[in-house]
Amino acid sequence: MANYNDNDDPRRALITGGANGFGLAAARILISQGSQVAIGDVDEKQLTKAAKEIDSANLLPLSLDVTSRASIQLAVDACNEKFGGLDTLINSAGVIDISPLSEVTEEKWDFVLDVDLKGVFFMAQAAAPLISESGRGRIVNIGSDASKVGFAQIHAYCAAKHAVAGVTKSLAGELAPHQVTVNCVCPVGSPTTGMGEWVMSWKKAATGLTRKEIEASTAADIPLKRNATEADVANAIMFFLADSSDFLTGLILDVDGGMLSTIPIPGAAD
Ligand SMILES: NC(=O)c1ccc[n+]([C@@H]2O[C@H](COP(=O)([O-])OP(=O)(O)OC[C@H]3O[C@@H](n4cnc5c(N)ncnc54)[C@H](O)[C@@H]3O)[C@@H](O)[C@H]2O)c1
Repeated sequence: MANYNDNDDPRRALITGGANGFGLAAARILISQGSQVAIGDVDEKQLTKAAKEIDSANLLPLSLDVTSRASIQLAVDACNEKFGGLDTLINSAGVIDISPLSEVTEEKWDFVLDVDLKGVFFMAQAAAPLISESGRGRIVNIGSDASKVGFAQIHAYCAAKHAVAGVTKSLAGELAPHQVTVNCVCPVGSPTTGMGEWVMSWKKAATGLTRKEIEASTAADIPLKRNATEADVANAIMFFLADSSDFLTGLILDVDGGMLSTIPIPGAAD
């Protein structure tokens, strides 16, 4: 029986935003299992660093801007050429903006929506023909706790991430006849990724607290009393990639230590 950390057959995967954070954590696991993995990213410096660290002939670092459909098509073509096909797409590229309502410009709005929503959809559109041919296709989108709840001052990101949950379901319906599953993994804040570090800096400036105090405060709000790690998210991605998960599609999985499904009794101490 296939174990979710040990697929019987190695995968041919393209990971957007794969040079850092959750995408890179998934790439490390897949490479360790003998899969062929393209990591596509706009951050050239991070791509070079990741390629040097992983140091595998099975790794294909690619310059990729998910806001450009030409760049997307080049990345998919490069995977086809190097791997002879593609069976897995992990949409992890993401950006965030935190701005009070009055300071949300059209540029900020479009920047976040273009990467976090349009990027996910057009990556799936471009990769779908190859992934459908594979007979064991997997698309995993990285949503967020912001796919489920709203956060003050995080307008465009919440809009994009809610929509990623929706488009996960529409893609799941359309691609199911081709044995392609499409699922979404929704982490709570993880302070160690590129985005996590950016949000941490914002929180430090906004509150005057130290990193240690902020990490303790966010962990205290989570029922399992710790912050999410890159490994937590990579493991959830691997769960959906497993051959044994081939009946699971259109799902939105919280990776949140219970935060989105349980709250203390209002007015009572937890
Ligand atoms: N870290 C968190 O707290 C957190 C929580 C919930 C969801 N997420 C989501 O997880 C995903 C991965 O983020 P992360 O936390 O690993 O941060 P990260 O910054 O480490 O990784 C995101 C990667 O996306 C890349 N990227 C940005 N714009 C791009 C573009 N136009 N084309 C291609 N690549 C691009 C970045 O260069 C970066 O390497 C994102 O979708 C993010 O929204 C993060």
